[in-house]
This record gives sequence, C-alpha cells and structure tokens, in this order.
Amino acid sequence: MTSTLNPSPNQSSTPNRFSRDDWQRGYQSQRTEDAYWVEDIDGELPADLTGTLFRNGPGQLDVNGQPFQHPFDGDGMISAFTFTKAETGTGTRADAGAEDSNGSGNGSGNGSGNRVYFRNRFVRTPGFIAEQDAGKILYRGVFGTQKPGGMLANLFDIRIKNIANTNVRYWGDKLMALWEAAEPFRLDPQTLETKGPEYLDGLLKPGQAFSAHPRVDPGSPRTGGKRRLINFGVDAGLSSTISIYEFEEDGSLAQQQSRTVPGFAFLHDFAITENYYVFFQNPVSLNPIPFVMGLKGAGQCINLDEKKATQILLIPRDPDQPVRSLDTDSCFVFHHANAFELSHADGDKLIIDSICYANYPSLDPSIDFLEVDFGGVDPGQLFRLEADLSTGEVTRTCIESRACEFPCQHPDTVGKPARFYYMGVTDAPTGNAPLQAIMKVDVDSGDRKIHSFAPRGFINEPLFIPRPSGTSLSDRDNNREDDGWVLVLIYNAERHASDLVILAAEDLSEIARVKLKQHIPYGLHGSFVPETFGLESSNS
Ligand code: CO
Repeated sequence: MTSTLNPSPNQSSTPNRFSRDDWQRGYQSQRTEDAYWVEDIDGELPADLTGTLFRNGPGQLDVNGQPFQHPFDGDGMISAFTFTKAETGTGTRADAGAEDSNGSGNGSGNGSGNRVYFRNRFVRTPGFIAEQDAGKILYRGVFGTQKPGGMLANLFDIRIKNIANTNVRYWGDKLMALWEAAEPFRLDPQTLETKGPEYLDGLLKPGQAFSAHPRVDPGSPRTGGKRRLINFGVDAGLSSTISIYEFEEDGSLAQQQSRTVPGFAFLHDFAITENYYVFFQNPVSLNPIPFVMGLKGAGQCINLDEKKATQILLIPRDPDQPVRSLDTDSCFVFHHANAFELSHADGDKLIIDSICYANYPSLDPSIDFLEVDFGGVDPGQLFRLEADLSTGEVTRTCIESRACEFPCQHPDTVGKPARFYYMGVTDAPTGNAPLQAIMKVDVDSGDRKIHSFAPRGFINEPLFIPRPSGTSLSDRDNNREDDGWVLVLIYNAERHASDLVILAAEDLSEIARVKLKQHIPYGLHGSFVPETFGLESSNS
C-alpha cells in the first residue's frame, strides 16, 4: 500500500518560538568582506577537529537598496572556517597575546589549543561586478528571450545572471562555487579570490548546466574502492537531457553519460547507489507566460500537478543499461537524504529517503518573501520510499513529520544503508516555521534527538564531520557512525551576528560556539575538507 503525505501538518498545538523581526534581520545583506582569527569562542574546540568548512549562500539580497525578489537570487558569498592546531597557525597564537596560552581570557582560550580562522568573500561573477559597478540591478525583465534555442529550452539560462550562490566544493585541487543552471566558478581555496568560470577541462560549454548537488561516492567495487565526485547537469525543455559525470579524486573524468527523458525535468538534487543515479521527476508543468511578461520569476511559473505521479528515474551507472521509471504519489522534492540498494530473497529493493513536500512551495510574487505566511506553506517531511525493482511497486512511509530540510549523514554511508541522519527542523513538532533546531534521526531504532536554538537562533544546513580517528564504518558491528561532530552556522538574533556551533553528534550537546563579529545571511549548502586552507595570508 502507498501511504499519503500528512494531510494536516499545520495544526499546531505547540507554537513555534520566534519573532518575525528576528528572522527577517538574518536576511540583511552582508557586504563586508573580512578575514580574522575568531577570538570569541564559548566552550572548547575539539582537539582533533582540523580542516576547512566552506559555506555558500546569498551574501547580498539587494543592490543599493533595490531588493532582489527572492533570496535565492542573491549574489553568492563564500564563508570559510579553518580549524587548526595552534602550532600550525603561523605563530599567530603568540602574537595574539599571552592570555590565550593559558586557556583563559577573552573567551578565546580553550584547552585543546585549537583555533579557527574566518574569511568571507563574494564570488565575483560578471553579473555581480556589472551590478556593483552600475550601482543598480541590471538583470531584470525579459532580456534573455532573444536567445536562440527556444524560450522553454533556455528558461533557466535566461532567468538571471549566474550568481554562483548554492554550494561550494573542493575536488581535484579545485574549489568551485556551484549554481545549478550554469558552469561553476573557480575560487582560490586560500584567499577565496574568484579565478573565473570553470569548464572542467572542456567538459562544459559556457552557460552549460552543472548542478549544485554533487554527491561523493565513498567507494565500492564499481569504483575500485576509490572515492568519486558525481554530478549532473540538466538541459530542460519539452524533453530533458540529463548529463551525469563521475570524477576521480584527482579531478579527472572517470565516466560520463547523457540520457534524454520525456517532459520538463526540474531536478535540483539526486541520490546515488552502487548501481544507480536516482532522480525524482516532479510532476511539474510550466506556464512561462508570466515569466515572459516579467510578472514572475521562472521558478514561480512552476505548478505541481497533484493528480499526476512523481516519477522516480533510475539511471544505471552502467551506460549500457536502460533507464527505469517508477511512479509514486505526487510530491515535490528538492533534497534527498540518501538512497541504497537492498538484496532480498523476494527481490531486490531500492530505498530512497527524501524530504517531500505535498506541493511546490512557490511564493506569490506580489508578496514580499519576508512576509510569508509560514502556516500557508506546506512543510517538507522526511519520507522513506521503497521501490521493489522486480514489480516496480513503490511504497512510501513518513519517517519524520516535523518540518525539516537540509539532511546530512556520515560521508562514508552515502549510497549505503545509513543509520543516522541530521537535519534542520522547526522548534515545534508541528506547523511550519523557520528552521531553528537540529534533529538527529536514528532510522534503526526510531530514536530522535533535538537541539533547538529557539527562540532567537535560526539554523543553516548542518554538516556531519567524522572524527578523524573514528573507527572504520566497514567494521559495522563495532562502528560508531555518530562518532564526530555536527557543525551548524546559526543566525543569532540576540547579537545580530552568526555563531558556528559545534555539536557532539552522539547526543547533539553543544561543545563549542565560534562567535563571528558579523552576521552571515541565511545560506544554502557547504562542505568540509581536512585541508587547512587560508592560513598563509592570515594575520592577527
Ligand atoms: Co539544495
């Protein structure tokens, strides 16, 4: 049997605790680019947490007071947090003052002696530079309709400038700011300086789509046990072509394939398993007329047909195998948590855990997004879909009905059965609201743990970072899949500044809080690497 989405998630008995003024101030533009050792730290940085956390998101939501219509249209700004042991910090520890060395004073001392360096910088895309020079918004209206190839085919190309604001990834010695509708921008990982558009050794053409949601395969027999970065790009129109690329750790192309599927494919994210790429083709239709007339953004011209099935596209990683398409109840998905294959005596199954919305969360263009009625927007909820690969039947069960987004997990469990997910959730168990808490979901036991930053804290995407000395996940009997930390950047309305909070993944208790001098507007996605970038040019 197929279950349905929770029909009345907005009937709240426990109200969410937040003030709209607080929430709105987290969307103020941050135009200052800064770089400094963070001196204001509550708690103690973990001794074995070293590396660089990169985050991306819209850094400015207006040009000279002219607001962008939606925060997703804001110019990409990269933040980097470099965690380092004191002795590798180019001697700055001694320079910073004697009070640091004894673990007291100014809140900067901590027993581990570790430090964290912060840097933020805009991605200097041609559109960003042009608008800064002009002092006004240039990319509005219907300028792109003259592009060849048909309006529908180019819809997301012509919508706006490449704003490079969705994700940031380091792979094959390249740091790239990603935006799904066009090529990435390459950045200097040390300084975050923009190097220019990145065409991946000629793999991409100018303007060609390259998604903001790469997945890292932790390795399997298919990859010779090696990690691979897998990403896709969609050329969407009346039919849609999905190109999928797998990159070796040195950045070289391991394999590539393109598949054409019927219909307009609005694909933000995907999931991988050992043998498949998994896409959800949401039953959306486009009414491009309001976009052409300049009444709506292209993303606002998408309608979900609730009577039509959502199609699960299973594209085999073996390019010689045919694509399979399975139907499930209508829903809209931006983000998948994970997917994996299960061999059963009665047939093979494919499990997909995804954040499902009952409807496409489009906003009325006449309403300022800052005034959105949260109760009128369907919440995302975590669902498990089980596809029987012999019969094609798909069943769906709700794992977590609390409004949620931004799921993450141990990187070694991607494409494999994961026990723990960490995700952003609302403070209250029902109703829709800004995300203010982190939830740990144990899919084996059903156990939940929650750490809420309400009423004055608002979260971004959490990331799980495994402890470097953690036991190997291949030893599943003894492993601790939650041996590590959850890093989450929050907007702290009390200070009108952002805190990077380090939670113990085991129980979500707060270990340390890195308090920035400034706020970082609500962002989208990020990643963590063990390399400690950005310290050479640091000064304190
Ligand atoms: Co996303």
